[in-house]
Amino acid sequence: MTVTIVGSQLGDEGKGALVDLWGGDADIVVRYQGGDNAGHTVVEDGEEYKLSLVPSGAVRDKVGVLGNGCVINPRTLFSEIDDLRERGLDPDVRLAKRAHVIMPYHRRLDNIEEEAKADSDLTVGTTGRGIGPTYEDKAGRRGIRVGDLLDPDVLRQRLEYVVPQKKALIEDVYGLEAGEECDVEALVEEYTEIGRRLREDDMAVNCGDFLAERREAGDNVMFEGAQGTLIDIDHGSYPYVTSSNPTAGGAATGTGVGPTVVGQGEVVGIVKSYLSRVGEGPMPTELKDDEREEELADFIREKGGEFGTVTGRPRRIGWLDMPMLRHAARVSGFTGIAVNHLDVLAGLDEVKVGHAYELEGEERLTMPATTERWGECEPVVKEFDTWPEVDWAAVAEEGYDAIPDAAQDYLEYLSDELDVPIYAVGVGPGREQTVHIENPFDN
Ligand code: IMP
Repeated sequence: MTVTIVGSQLGDEGKGALVDLWGGDADIVVRYQGGDNAGHTVVEDGEEYKLSLVPSGAVRDKVGVLGNGCVINPRTLFSEIDDLRERGLDPDVRLAKRAHVIMPYHRRLDNIEEEAKADSDLTVGTTGRGIGPTYEDKAGRRGIRVGDLLDPDVLRQRLEYVVPQKKALIEDVYGLEAGEECDVEALVEEYTEIGRRLREDDMAVNCGDFLAERREAGDNVMFEGAQGTLIDIDHGSYPYVTSSNPTAGGAATGTGVGPTVVGQGEVVGIVKSYLSRVGEGPMPTELKDDEREEELADFIREKGGEFGTVTGRPRRIGWLDMPMLRHAARVSGFTGIAVNHLDVLAGLDEVKVGHAYELEGEERLTMPATTERWGECEPVVKEFDTWPEVDWAAVAEEGYDAIPDAAQDYLEYLSDELDVPIYAVGVGPGREQTVHIENPFDN
């Protein structure tokens, strides 16, 4: 049995809480794309864990795998693992030998390129973690993979080829000075040592084989998508995207299992009850048109804790965007959804969703394929009855029927429009603050 968890908006939908909740029935939790640009907060026994690379399942004694579709910064990885160990956990993390490694020059180049774009509308607002440049090298067939770290000769050979290119780029194209990030000897030394630790701790695996063996032995697997559909390199709002595929297809290419395996399981879209966005790009339902909307956005931002887990940046806030969700449900083939942060909208004077878009006088239910056209879309708004602040902990305990009627209407609208059942409703940040409806592992 497999369950794939996909962010259906712009990331930060609260996937970690659901991965953590249902991950209890998984034996293995596998990330299939992205790197330390992600941020998931997991609350376990009142303890809060902020992770960016280690799969959240690892907090709950599951095997956590970083698939070949991921880009891995070993410095972040080991600092997170060491931190979890200091807090008394013993995470079992495996890395695909085919996954690419984020090197110090990737981070430097990510920041240099953002800086170079700063005065144009091409700025992406990346997390500065070197994600894009690492995927560029992967596609350019000049990347360093986890498997290369295990073989010092191969590592040296690859670095001797690629580093002079990076140095030339930094110095000759951008007119800056290259530093330690382009020191081949220092890199060979540091990354050989990392390879030694990977070998010693038996962390590097052939991901596809590893998962096949474990599935054959009867293990349940959860595929944990990072980021969200709208920042998918193929299906998102290009160029304001990350450089990988958070959509469900990525679970197959990013781990080495067949698409049929992913497709025979459940694919659950995680939806936040409203919208947030870090970084640039259109957002038709953004709350920013007048002072009242800005106040509302501030309120939601504070109440929902909408500040980047990785960068601390305040997130832009908007109403739920249905054309975006219809697009997400189709691209990933959702079999169900979980709706988070319903409590954040409680007690507001108004609750709206962008039901459709208006573009050149025509109403449309899904998103245009180009970001420029998307930016021209005006939301066609649907207003809902508001719901009051209630004791959400009690609601979580009592179940779906205890959710205020108006909020149930909101949820049912969502489920009807996307034509999928709702498996869970998040009414607070902790795992226990979730209204359980169905566990996808039981299907
Ligand atoms: P990158 O992934 O650092 O290259 O950033 C590319 C775009 O994706 C930027 O707009 C980021 O703000 C956005 N992004 C990357 N990771 C996340 C995430 O985990 N949540 C939300 N946005 C993200």
